[in-house]
Amino acid sequence: MAEGDLLEMATTALGIKTTPRHIALIMDGNGRWAAARGLPRLEGHRRGVEALRRAVRAAIELKISYLTVYSFSAENWSRPRDEVQSLLGLLHRFIRNDLNELHASNVRVRVIGARADLSPDILGLLEEAERVTQANTGLTLVVAFNYGARQEIAAAARALAEMVAQGRLAPNEIDADAIAARLDTADIPDPDLIIRTSGEQRLSNFLLWQAAYAEFVFLPILWPDFDRAAMIAALQEYAHRERRFGRVEPALSAKTAS
Ligand code: FPP
Repeated sequence: MAEGDLLEMATTALGIKTTPRHIALIMDGNGRWAAARGLPRLEGHRRGVEALRRAVRAAIELKISYLTVYSFSAENWSRPRDEVQSLLGLLHRFIRNDLNELHASNVRVRVIGARADLSPDILGLLEEAERVTQANTGLTLVVAFNYGARQEIAAAARALAEMVAQGRLAPNEIDADAIAARLDTADIPDPDLIIRTSGEQRLSNFLLWQAAYAEFVFLPILWPDFDRAAMIAALQEYAHRERRFGRVEPALSAKTAS
């Protein structure tokens, strides 16, 4: 039996009749996980990296095409200095330790977020991860680092304004496609499903433009506890959602017409 058929049987057995092409994760609750155990916040982030590994493995197993993870927001720089250093150190180690395995698993790494002010070592690592894995054809792991959606949209607006100022674009040529084409995610499909852990129900400046028609699943667990079972629970919930993209149900529109 082909691998695809086996996967279909497995997901059907789990009650998942449709899987999202693109899942985005807001990995929230590391600090609370640590505090509940009397541990330093860094320990929560460390366990958060382990949960990230489980999420990537589950996405590969479930044949998800794109997994975007909010690893460090543009606003995270205002956390205490030692916490920022710890998060940077974890990113460093994640890429150093896991890049070979990601590459061997045919994962393509992409990075979104502002690169201009990053230190050369962090920037070098992110670029290395993209370069080494660029020809891979399995899961695309999109790492949102120093990412802020408002900043991303502002940068796209600035790029378009410059084109108008140079006479290369007319103002009436600016439409949604023109903006989308200048976002960091230009060649990445919009997320179908956004999962946030920790019970908080907000986007926190993550993929504001791209989330226009995304489904949201808010899980009550803290990020370090995320695992394959949590991913499957979110997929089961997603499979029950009815996505209409602003349209009405065909049956309903037939009724209106008659
Ligand atoms: C939110 O927890 C999480 C983050 C700020 C960053 C997410 C980071 C990881 C999962 C680990 C690092 C991974 C990489 C690849 C860098 P929080 O600190 O806001 O938790 P709290 O709301 O409970 O305080």
